[in-house]
Amino acid sequence: MCGIVGYTGPREAYPVIIKGLKRLEYRGYDSSGVALQNGGLNVYKKKGKVAELEESVVGKNLHAHVGIGHTRWATHGEPNDRNAHPHQSASGKLAMIHNGIIENYAQLKGELVKKGYTFKSDTDTEVLLNFIEEIKINNDCSLEEAIRIALKRVVGAYVILLLDEDNPDTIIAARKGSPLVIGVGKGEHFLGSDASPMLEYTKEVVYVNDYELAIIKPDELILKNLGNEKLTPYVQKLDIELAAIEKGGYDHFMLKEIFEQPQTIYDCLRGRLDAVAGTITMSGVQQYAEQIMQANRIIMVACGTSWHSGLVAEYIFEELCRINVEVEYASEFRYRNPVINKGDIIIAISQSGETADTLVAIETAKEKGAIILGVVNVVGSSIARISHAGAYTHAGPEIGVASTKAFTGQLAVLTMIALKVGYMKGTINEARYRQLLNELNEVPEKVAWVLNHHEHIKKIAEKYKDARDFLYLGRGYNFAVALEGALKLKEISYIHAEGYPAAEMKHGPIALVDENLPVVFIATRDAYHEKIVSNMQEIKARKGQVISVITEGDEHSASLSQDVMVIPEADEIVAPLLSVVPLQLLAYYIGVAKGLDVDKPRNLAKSVTVE
Ligand code: F6R
Repeated sequence: MCGIVGYTGPREAYPVIIKGLKRLEYRGYDSSGVALQNGGLNVYKKKGKVAELEESVVGKNLHAHVGIGHTRWATHGEPNDRNAHPHQSASGKLAMIHNGIIENYAQLKGELVKKGYTFKSDTDTEVLLNFIEEIKINNDCSLEEAIRIALKRVVGAYVILLLDEDNPDTIIAARKGSPLVIGVGKGEHFLGSDASPMLEYTKEVVYVNDYELAIIKPDELILKNLGNEKLTPYVQKLDIELAAIEKGGYDHFMLKEIFEQPQTIYDCLRGRLDAVAGTITMSGVQQYAEQIMQANRIIMVACGTSWHSGLVAEYIFEELCRINVEVEYASEFRYRNPVINKGDIIIAISQSGETADTLVAIETAKEKGAIILGVVNVVGSSIARISHAGAYTHAGPEIGVASTKAFTGQLAVLTMIALKVGYMKGTINEARYRQLLNELNEVPEKVAWVLNHHEHIKKIAEKYKDARDFLYLGRGYNFAVALEGALKLKEISYIHAEGYPAAEMKHGPIALVDENLPVVFIATRDAYHEKIVSNMQEIKARKGQVISVITEGDEHSASLSQDVMVIPEADEIVAPLLSVVPLQLLAYYIGVAKGLDVDKPRNLAKSVTVE
C-alpha cells in the first residue's frame, strides 16, 4: 500500500514523478504529494487522487531535478492534506515519504514530545522523520548515520525516501518489508514501489532488500546494510513493455485485464504444457518434485482472491495427488503458532508478491523447515525471492485493483503443478492426465468464447444493479468461484454479497431469500450438478431471483433461472477457469452501471503491504 516515486538526474523531476504516481495509484489514492529540491525544499500535497494534486499545483514553481512523490493509502491519520506525504521535519530541512507502518510510533512520539516536539500531522511517518532528525542533531552525525541508528529502533515495516536540503542532489532510501525498486539510468536514477514509474527510461533495475539503505545521486548508487557495510547492487534486466501497463483502448484496466485472459492464460501455459508430448515442464517445481510427492501435507497460504485460488486448488490437489491440503488465510496462519512439520510444503499464492501477511507467514514457515513454493505474478517481488522455488503466473502487470487475470493465472499454474505431481506420483492415470492436459490447453480459446458474450452479461448487470444484496452459491470446484464472484461484486459495486457452498444455504442464508434477492448459482455441469439444480429449485420456490452460470446446452438449469451466463463444455477441474469470467464481467458492468470508479474502489489498495 502507498506508492512511492523518486528521481535524481538531469530531467525535470516533477513530470517524471507525477507520471510515476499515476501508475502507482493502484497502491492507494487517499492523498498524494511531492517534495522538490529547488534551492530549498518545496512540498506540495493534497487530499484525493493524483489528478487533484496536479490541479492544486498549477502556477507553482515546479522546476527541480531531484524530487520524491507519494500516493497514500491511509493507515495512521485520516486522509486529508495534513496527513498526506511528504512530511517535513521540525527544522523544515528534511522531507520524507513512507510506505508501511511504524508499530512503535507511539513510544517514539512520546520520547519526542518530552523533548518539546510538536506534530503537524497524525502520522507515524512524521514521528519517524523527527526521530531521525533528533538523532542527527543530537549525535552531530550525517543523515545516513542518523537513519541507520533510527531504523534499529523501529518496529514495523517501511520503505522511506528522504530529501535533505543540505544535500540537494541526493535521495536516501531504506527498506524493510515494503517493496523498493531503483532504476539505473545514464547519469540518473529512478525509484519506485514497483518498476512501472521507470519503464520508459530504463530497463536496468535493482531490487532493494530488507535492512538495506541506498544513497542515490544522479551518477552514483551506494547500497549498504544497516551495519554500514557496502553491498554490491545486483542489477537486473526488466522484461515488461510500457504497453503492458497502459489501458490500450479499454475504458478501464479491469476490463482490459478481464479481456486479456485468453492471452495471459496462454502465456502461462506456453513453454510448460505440451499436450502432444504429454509433458509439463516447471523447473522450480521439478527441483522439489520428490519432496512434494512425499509430503504428507500441502498448506496454501494467501489472502483475498489469491486465497480463493488456493481453495479451488485444494480440491484439485486432493483429487489428483491424494495429498492432504489445507488452505490458510495468511493473516491467521502467521499469528496462531501453526503446527509445521519438516517436509511440509507451503504454497504461497500472491499476485503482487508483496502482501505483508503472506510474506511473514512464509518467513515463519521457512524458519520451521517447510519448503516454500511461490505462485506469484510480479517477477522479482519479495515473495518470489524468499520462496525456495515456484512458478510465475505470467499474467503481466495487473493494475485494476480488483484481481482478475491474476486469479486465472494462479489457477492455471496450480492445476499444472497438481497434474505434474499427480502424474509422477501415479495418483492419476495416463488417460486422465492426457485428457486434462488437452482440457487445460483449450482453456484460452474457451475463455475467449465466454468473453464474446459480454454484451449479454452487461444487460444482466443493468437489470440487477440496484439490488441491495447478492448471494453466490457453488459446490465442489465451483464453491470458491462463488466466493470470488461475491468478493468481486462487493469490491467494485459496494453491493453486499456473500458466497456460500450451495448446500450450506439451508443452514442459515436461506432466511435472506425473497423476491428482491438475486442468487447467483455457479452451476456448470459436474459431478454435483443434480445437487445444485435442487438448490436452484429451493431458491425459486421462495421467489428468489436465480441468475446462473451454466454449461452451454443445459436447458434444464436455464429453465429454472431468470438469467443465464453460459460457458462452453469443460472438465470440472478446469471449469473454474471459465466460470469465474462471467462473474468478473457481471461485477465490472454493475460497478460501471452504478457510475463507480471500478479501477480504484474506495478504501482499497492493490498491494497490501501492511498487516
Ligand atoms: C481482490 C484482491 C485482493 C487480493 C489480496 C491478495 O480483488 O485483489 O483480495 O487478492 O489482497 O493480494 P496478493 O495476491 O497480491 O497477495
